[in-house]
Amino acid sequence: MQLLDGRVASKAVKEQLKAEVEKIVATGARAPHLAVILVGNNGASETYVASKVKTCAEIGYQSTMVRRDLDITEADLLAEIQKLNKDQSVDGILVQLPLPKHISEQKVIAAIDPTKDVDGFHPVSAGNLTLGMPTFIPATPYGIMLMLEHYQIPTKGKHAVVIGRSNIVGRPMSILLSGNNPYGNCTVTLCHSHTPNLQDICLQADIIVAALGRPGFVQPEMVKDGAIIIDVGITRVEDATAKKGYRIKGDVDFEAVAPKSSYITPVPGGVGLMTIAGLLKNTLVAYENRQEDLRR
Ligand code: GUN
Repeated sequence: MQLLDGRVASKAVKEQLKAEVEKIVATGARAPHLAVILVGNNGASETYVASKVKTCAEIGYQSTMVRRDLDITEADLLAEIQKLNKDQSVDGILVQLPLPKHISEQKVIAAIDPTKDVDGFHPVSAGNLTLGMPTFIPATPYGIMLMLEHYQIPTKGKHAVVIGRSNIVGRPMSILLSGNNPYGNCTVTLCHSHTPNLQDICLQADIIVAALGRPGFVQPEMVKDGAIIIDVGITRVEDATAKKGYRIKGDVDFEAVAPKSSYITPVPGGVGLMTIAGLLKNTLVAYENRQEDLRR
């Protein structure tokens, strides 16, 4: 069993991005700029957003954090997005999800200028991804592809089973793994809550991507010897012995499954760190596209 270490793989990506930003700034140009909107004060969202902003600073990006109260109206949030759409100094816009129930996530995502959609959630980005066109790839599946690339894990011809069909992870992951690209060309089965015989299907998998949000769901009896295990789960589970009162648990029972696997991502310290790497790569692409448009 080899650990797919998000610390190592994300460090490599961040160092590469930092070097690129240094080169850009040395020419006298401004640095890439990510704007993050956070509505309310959901604990997990606060943590993710803080970590995104901190990593921007580490690699030399500019970032702007827009905080709004939980009771902001949909119209006011859409107006905030329009402001950032028009702001020529902003390259990427990210609205942290989930949003409060009175706001339509789909409407908010669709309001983002697709050229600034570094989360890759806009219908234009999703459509391009489906067609195999250049686009912003949602950060978590993108991060997983970067992880496979970092550890040079061959995927061609393998059977990948993705558990979970969310727009953020499972669905785009299934498209990337089945696509004709260096770490794709898999035969993909996308499983969800209505899939019968999940255990039988998982037992046929060379690669399992667990993205359903149920801590410890993937058990050793679901895993073929030598399978590659990618754990996307990051659920907070109460634990009185932990300093913060909770622990982060993945969708895979790591202790039990690791001995059967060839490669496995830990939680924490796996896919989560790669998500930020994916987002920051998208932000650099958004910046470069914008600079190119300005030169035209
Ligand atoms: N909430 C959980 N994951 C994500 C993500 O990748 N992007 C945004 N904007 N919100 C999230």
